Amino acid sequence: MERIGILTSGGDSPGMNAGIRSLVRTGIYHGYQMMGIRAGFTGLLEGDIHHLDLASVADIIHRGGTILKTSRSQEFQTEEGQKKALDQLNKAKIHKLFVLGGDGSFHGAQALADKGVEVMALPCSIDNDLAYTDASIGFMTAVETITEAIGKIRDTSSSHERGHVIQVMGRKCGDLAIFAGMSGGAENILIPEVENSLKGILAKIHQGKKRGKRHHILLVTEGVYDPYQLAEEIYQGTGVETKVTILGYIQRGGSPTSFDRILASSLASRGLEYLIQGKTHHAMGFKGGEISCLPLEEALKEEKVFKEKLYQEIKMLSI
Ligand code: F6P
Repeated sequence: MERIGILTSGGDSPGMNAGIRSLVRTGIYHGYQMMGIRAGFTGLLEGDIHHLDLASVADIIHRGGTILKTSRSQEFQTEEGQKKALDQLNKAKIHKLFVLGGDGSFHGAQALADKGVEVMALPCSIDNDLAYTDASIGFMTAVETITEAIGKIRDTSSSHERGHVIQVMGRKCGDLAIFAGMSGGAENILIPEVENSLKGILAKIHQGKKRGKRHHILLVTEGVYDPYQLAEEIYQGTGVETKVTILGYIQRGGSPTSFDRILASSLASRGLEYLIQGKTHHAMGFKGGEISCLPLEEALKEEKVFKEKLYQEIKMLSI
């Protein structure tokens, strides 16, 4: 029986399990033996590879995290590491491989594709920083988590008439802050794509105070501002007492929303069928409401387009 390997790599994202389940079930349905590689490229280097049967993916569609575990491997980034990984795949008789992860994992998948492995990549990242797809698996769940947190923080902020700086993840991409900012009704969105002046931030708080706002929520992508320093500057500049919440890893966990379960299930199932039909070195995605599949190399070359319109709408709605 021909084998297909699956690994999850990089930061986990809600919906990875739904994707694994879909791959295993679709693969077995089409007569393949499905193999799980534990802890991403680290497990691959160690040959930590196991058979996955139908029962091994029961009861996981609703669970966050990844049953295969994940890691960020330094060794795999070296030429030597990649050769070792290839040897392990050959030893396990795996020539077809699914890589579930974000930008870094896609580069890993590309490295193996360059060495002849028949690779298919599935976008899984809460950051949503892969440009070729409108949504990565896990992104919308993280948006829900942040939105819920904003609602709770707003309750207490209004009661005390305070400002609140909420730091969210996203690395170099402001999508989490933009989408959650829109759904949570944040007053300020501070993201890597836009330069912000402290003067502008303070002016908006003053203006909000004047028109009777009882709270002021600032969503900040990690790395854009030191949240504690910003809170202090707001206090010094406006007199509004300002608290800080760093949402952190709460954004990465939790049960995936139905959108992410459906996205993961469809991308995985369709991707597996493409792979066995001979479409290799590709990445599955979701573009303009449709499932897409394009060469991995092209997917990695696409540059993220800043959601200017959405950003301007949020600014308009938070006056
Ligand atoms: O999964 C993406 C991400 O959550 C980034 O937003 C964050 O900077 C990073 O992972 C932190 O990941 P780790 O804890 O694995 O280093």
